[in-house]
Amino acid sequence: MPSQANRRLWRDITLFDGLRTLPTPMGVIVAGERIERVAPMSELDAATLAGCEPMASGGVMTPGLVDCHTHLVFGGSRADEFEQRLEGVSYEEIARRGGGILSTVTATREASEEALFAAAKPRLQALIDEGATTVEIKSGYGLNVADELKMLRVARRLGEALPVRVVTTLLGAHALPPEFQDDGDGYIRLVCEEMIPAAVAEGLADAVDVFCESIAFSVAQCERVFAAAEAHGLPIKAHAEQLSNLGGSAMAARHGALSADHIEYLDEAGVAALKQAGSVAVLLPGAFHTLRETKLPPIEALRRAGVPMAIATDANPGSSPIFAPTLMLNFACTLFRLTPQEALAGMTAHGARALGLAGQGLGRIEAGAPADLCLWRVETPAALAYAVQPGRLQQRVFNGEVTHG
Ligand code: NIG
Ligand code: FE
Repeated sequence: MPSQANRRLWRDITLFDGLRTLPTPMGVIVAGERIERVAPMSELDAATLAGCEPMASGGVMTPGLVDCHTHLVFGGSRADEFEQRLEGVSYEEIARRGGGILSTVTATREASEEALFAAAKPRLQALIDEGATTVEIKSGYGLNVADELKMLRVARRLGEALPVRVVTTLLGAHALPPEFQDDGDGYIRLVCEEMIPAAVAEGLADAVDVFCESIAFSVAQCERVFAAAEAHGLPIKAHAEQLSNLGGSAMAARHGALSADHIEYLDEAGVAALKQAGSVAVLLPGAFHTLRETKLPPIEALRRAGVPMAIATDANPGSSPIFAPTLMLNFACTLFRLTPQEALAGMTAHGARALGLAGQGLGRIEAGAPADLCLWRVETPAALAYAVQPGRLQQRVFNGEVTHG
């Protein structure tokens, strides 16, 4: 039994538990790093209340936000491409001309580990200031063993420097580096035989991702990367069906992927494959918005099939230069027509599942889960997705520690 002095109480709150809003008013008791009890106030007797340190009364509480898809470690800037796109040049065309991801690769290779860390820290801090307590960070702008590992090391260090759980993903198969022009298979061999083993040896990767697309890698090439990841015991995920339908999501699902991400071009067969595998559909409305995409992900089919839908920022220098998780809740509703409850679940319970962390109770407010909590100055949980308004985070609790407010 935890010591009395260690128990803290949030009382009379409106609680979104990661999947739904519970009848108000609720009480949440935290003991040390974990949630001990979640109950209607009417069930908490005087002795229980008296034994707890009072933390706050009233407000809306959600799990700490889980941003399950970011690329926030990178060098350089791509603001010039924004201007080109406004003049009508497409994202694919910029990539084919050697810009896009490859322009960030050049800048990231040139940057020292220290410089990358210094540039990424305020980006991660921006997510934290908006309530994120778990953030996934991908590599993918190094595209050789040394620079991919450099990025992952920066990601790990960020998680040590700031009060946030950082999950790292090796995205070696993000784009074809210039040294391997016309030799995609040769580069995939490097990813499988050198990059993945090196990342595993240093304990730097929690998962492996690929970009399955005509401007990146084929389904067959991505499948080889997954086989190598599996051989090293790493979970997998995929950027798939973002610009066209190659069937990458279905292939990833066959390999038991944690998630398929973007998926604007996903078809019914792809939806069924995700459902069967228990994979999460990660929706990225920031990239949809930034690229002025018009093809909507198959939301209704995903909903009908009961595929869990996560929402993430995709924070990156090209397709989603957006470091604002609650804005993504709004975009998920306005652009993709999710309900506010679906959007919130997408950045809490389902986001955690897309990272393979749901089993630990992450992304939920329930007894036994890590005490990652946000208390918001809003009237209802839905209002978080409604207004676009920074500064509403009243309190942020990470691993039982109040880190804000
Ligand atoms: O998630 N789709 C590919 N990768 C990233 C974009 C990275 C970039 O443009 O720098 C994405 O959108
Ligand atoms: Fe991405």
